[in-house]
Amino acid sequence: MMKGKHIILGICGGIAAYKSVYLLRLLVKAGADVQVVITPAGKEFITPVTLSSLSGHPVISEFFTANTGSWNSHVDLGLWADAMVIAPATASTIGKMANGIADNMLVTTYLSAKCPVFLAPAMDLDMMAHPSTSRNLELLRSYGNHIIEPGVGELASHLVGKGRMEEPENIVKAMEAYFASKCDLSGRRVLITAGPTYERIDPVRFIGNYSSGKMGFAIAEECARRGAEVTLVSGPVSLKCSNPHIKRIDVESARQMLSAAGEAFAGSDVAIMCAAVADYYVENQADSKIKRENNEIPQIKLQRNPDIAATLGANNRPGQVLVGFALETDYEAVNAKLKIEKKNLDFIVLNSLRDKDACFGTDTNKVTIISRDGSEKPFGLKPKADVAKDVVDEVVARLQK
Ligand code: C5P
Repeated sequence: MMKGKHIILGICGGIAAYKSVYLLRLLVKAGADVQVVITPAGKEFITPVTLSSLSGHPVISEFFTANTGSWNSHVDLGLWADAMVIAPATASTIGKMANGIADNMLVTTYLSAKCPVFLAPAMDLDMMAHPSTSRNLELLRSYGNHIIEPGVGELASHLVGKGRMEEPENIVKAMEAYFASKCDLSGRRVLITAGPTYERIDPVRFIGNYSSGKMGFAIAEECARRGAEVTLVSGPVSLKCSNPHIKRIDVESARQMLSAAGEAFAGSDVAIMCAAVADYYVENQADSKIKRENNEIPQIKLQRNPDIAATLGANNRPGQVLVGFALETDYEAVNAKLKIEKKNLDFIVLNSLRDKDACFGTDTNKVTIISRDGSEKPFGLKPKADVAKDVVDEVVARLQK
């Protein structure tokens, strides 16, 4: 469940910080990639050297790295994480988190994080019982954070009461249970095509398009995050996959893409055709570079490429969900609906080139999901990672029908 997950481990200044070392060890052993963010007080309890050795990453505490002056981006960290766990969470940090007091890297990162956040409070029994702590924890719960209740027992002060940080094994279990509940694609195999195709003219030139692959890669990451085994057939792009459950097959041309996708399709429960496939390939490809000095102007002879989505759609077995994308400039919905029929799709994700900040190369997109029955679900402009969630939610709804 934790394999490949990006986890931010936040450590505050409490005696229970010694248990965070063990928590870090368990998370790493479970296959997570862990970035530690520690408060200045936390460093009084546990040394960054221990934590960086175990996590394999420098520990972050300050906004700037003293020796290089480089800026630690809480925004990038917040977007990178699949989950954030703050253990121990002290009364002070809980208060800051509840009230948005972003005076250190840990709280700033928390405020930027879009992922689920888990808190394992640890403090003396009277601090725990104080109405201010209860109110702050209640506020954090109401924001959707997961509070891992502290246990009752002997505390560092030798007093006995509620305030012992939950044991690291149980913190990991709570996180695993959360991820398990979100794995609605567990055991499913998903095929995704992404990026452009390049159709060779000669060894140095090609016909291509502006597709960056960002939308398809975001969908691949979302499916993998939700438990699917993903095969991503990608045209030439400069993107990397981060989830180990994504099997990536790089291709160049539409015909290569069809061959790879066709092979994976039979064993797939879902196929999402995101690629911007070239409509034609060059029949008279030159084996050596076409030279300008030639007397005649070269003529490129085009031949129709296979329609990958339509080929798969023609071989669709019952229960398989096939999704297409449509990028249109005019009569968008009408054209998209025609494609549903032509390619035998379950639904199509329409985006219009007329929408600003949507489509090629951008990090945002604005789509409408159109179903076979003609119903339309329009969505607002949002990051491609969030569009991916909407598309995958629709896929899951179809699988559950
Ligand atoms: O026909 P059009 O290219 O507009 O259709 C777009 C949809 O069909 C996308 O889902 C795209 O990935 C898929 N497609 C394909 N093979 C092609 C052309 C488009 O799979 N040759």
